[in-house]
Amino acid sequence: MAPSSKHSIQIIGTGAYLPSQVLTNHDLERLVDTSDEWITTRTGIKERRVAAKHEAASDLAIKAAQKALADAQIKADALELIIVATATPDMFFPSTACFVQKALGIREAVSFDVAAACSGFLYALETARMFLDSGPYKTALVIGAEKLSAITNWKDRSTCVLFGDGAGAAVLQKRPGPGGILSTYLRSDATHTDILQVPAGGSRLPATAEVVEKRLNTIHMEGKEVFKLAVHKMISAAQQALKLANKKEKELALLIPHQANLRIIDAIAERIEVPRERIFVNVDKYGNMSAATTIVALDEARRQGRVRKGDLVELIAFGAGLTWGAAVVQF
Ligand code: ACO
Repeated sequence: MAPSSKHSIQIIGTGAYLPSQVLTNHDLERLVDTSDEWITTRTGIKERRVAAKHEAASDLAIKAAQKALADAQIKADALELIIVATATPDMFFPSTACFVQKALGIREAVSFDVAAACSGFLYALETARMFLDSGPYKTALVIGAEKLSAITNWKDRSTCVLFGDGAGAAVLQKRPGPGGILSTYLRSDATHTDILQVPAGGSRLPATAEVVEKRLNTIHMEGKEVFKLAVHKMISAAQQALKLANKKEKELALLIPHQANLRIIDAIAERIEVPRERIFVNVDKYGNMSAATTIVALDEARRQGRVRKGDLVELIAFGAGLTWGAAVVQF
């Protein structure tokens, strides 16, 4: 997508919700054969959040949405479109977005989920942007929400140390004038569907007792392969989205890469012309929250005063599918 001149699609508010329970690397040492030292040096993660038993993805999403609405200073009934990006929906149906709509008390809207794993928020953002740009809609809510603890194999040290729960939300509005979402670049490559997946629990392999016993309904990942592709694809997406927006790397006030592993972020930093202090990092506190990651990071950056009016920010993501993408936004 390239910039349009007649109006812009602006992010007018953001919000995030992180469950209160903190699971540290030292806590994980008691669950699996791992160490704080291994997790810190290989991933940069020190702790992550875990949702309560009674909390589903929509419960996290609703709390993030309420904060985003307050930040945007609009009432829920102004929302015409609700998109939730999630790999951990409350249930197959209704969509998690419908549960959000219900909790917000909105009688009529267009509500649905988007599934693109860790790239989900960017896929949802672009979907909402297109609805607003070309349709009769003015205001949308885009959420990334995950309860990854529900699909984590807590006996597999190679994956359970990586993920966390959380949700972030953005209110989008069509407004006259320039700025807002300047460009989005999205791609998928389905030759690698096997290196990162939750093999069972869907229609391919429904959740039987045997499936659950073998923990096939949890995250399976070939970490090394994912790592290499993540670096390459995120750099390419960052460059392509900037090109579409007619902007240069050095013009970015902030680069928000997907927070899966600090070493992936370091590898991107080495190959891109953005000074380290302008690359956002919070993977140490939350781990990889899949679709929630980039929007939680954007909200945190805004609250820290790292995004000012007029600033150019780029979000980049990478995940199962494989899917990846980037978006350039002028605030
Ligand atoms: N604690 C201690 N040792 C461990 C742990 C652990 N938690 N996990 C693995 N190890 C061991 C392995 O068994 C292996 O031991 P061995 O050499 O005796 O066989 C050794 O550590 C090295 O394992 P590697 O897998 O080679 O470790 P690597 O340096 O590749 O790091 C990691 C693994 C962190 C998973 C990394 O590959 C990674 O971050 N990959 C990318 C993940 C990602 O980006 N995901 C994004 C998308 S997620 C989504 O879409 C839902």
